[in-house]
Amino acid sequence: MQNMRTKVGCLITGAAGFVGSHLAECLLAMNFQVVGIDNFFSGRRDNMRSFADSRDFYFYEASITERNLMRKLKRWHPELRYCFHLAAVVSVPYSVEHEDETMGINLTATQALVKESRELDFTAFVFAGSAAEYGRDPRLPLKEDYATAATRHTSPYGRSKFLASRDVAQSPNGIALRCFNIYGPRQDPASPYSGVVSRFLAAALAGQSLTILGDGQQTRDFIYVSDVVDAYLHAAGLNRRPASPLNGVYNVGTGEAVSILTLARTTLQLTNGSEAPAFLPERPGDIRHSLADIEQFKAVSGWSPKVSLPLGLRKTLEWFGRHTPPEC
Ligand code: UD1
Repeated sequence: MQNMRTKVGCLITGAAGFVGSHLAECLLAMNFQVVGIDNFFSGRRDNMRSFADSRDFYFYEASITERNLMRKLKRWHPELRYCFHLAAVVSVPYSVEHEDETMGINLTATQALVKESRELDFTAFVFAGSAAEYGRDPRLPLKEDYATAATRHTSPYGRSKFLASRDVAQSPNGIALRCFNIYGPRQDPASPYSGVVSRFLAAALAGQSLTILGDGQQTRDFIYVSDVVDAYLHAAGLNRRPASPLNGVYNVGTGEAVSILTLARTTLQLTNGSEAPAFLPERPGDIRHSLADIEQFKAVSGWSPKVSLPLGLRKTLEWFGRHTPPEC
């Protein structure tokens, strides 16, 4: 049992982000000390509202590119033993326009952090990889070993995540989770990298028609944010006794393909929407199908996704109902 003096510390980079804030909330509820950093490039202070005043939460506005960042934080918080590295350039279009910056943040800074984590004896360094690491590989479901140095990535974002995941996995304390299409409360429908779920829900709640880009037959593997948080805990071994972190690269999704048309229909049913969706041309460079093979991660960690799409959409909708969605 942990007591006040010996709480184990977890560092979360990107703690003010969509997923990072859910992870922080969960770790605090599990009685860990949480040290969060964020530079608010895409994170929002408001995402941390529910736990910002917790006495076990320490927040620093900082960039992950800062030299010796972990060393400094470990000096201030000697309890730190786990790092969840989620801070990144997350916008694909932004990564195309700012390739060097994306590589510097998503790859070089990650390499420096994982190295520091090893030197500082961190038990686990868990990295937020991405389905974008597979480029447009047509072999479905996507298995971890399909992404290789020969993969043609569709953006600097995908390339940077692939290279960083590979380096993280080579570290004895490193685990990279390639998350597919995450959705849930706090995903901002107004940001340029908003996912289709938050855009659909915000539009439906505003009584506007949903916009389907292309014919709507394209499919994605949508995973609810609490299942992703649970995957991070499993990766670090924090919900096993004794804690035994994994090592390597693993997919995190549901293993189920859902078409954008089905998503639109389900959204309209849940919101009692009657506006017919509007069809616009396909997004340039859009991937047709994306689906995770999650067997490896399930086998090594015992994790499995729990939240069905209708349930996850209902929970997200409830949250949207309580928070006026920004204009999108
Ligand atoms: C997502 C990520 C992207 C990442 C990729 C990796 C987001 C926002 N994007 O892209 O960073 O590189 O996974 O696989 O998380 N759509 C509509 N109407 C809308 C919005 C989108 O029909 O209003 C369509 C898109 O054209 C696409 C699908 O919905 O076909 C999913 O879009 P999106 O949520 O942006 O995710 P990905 O394209 O998978």
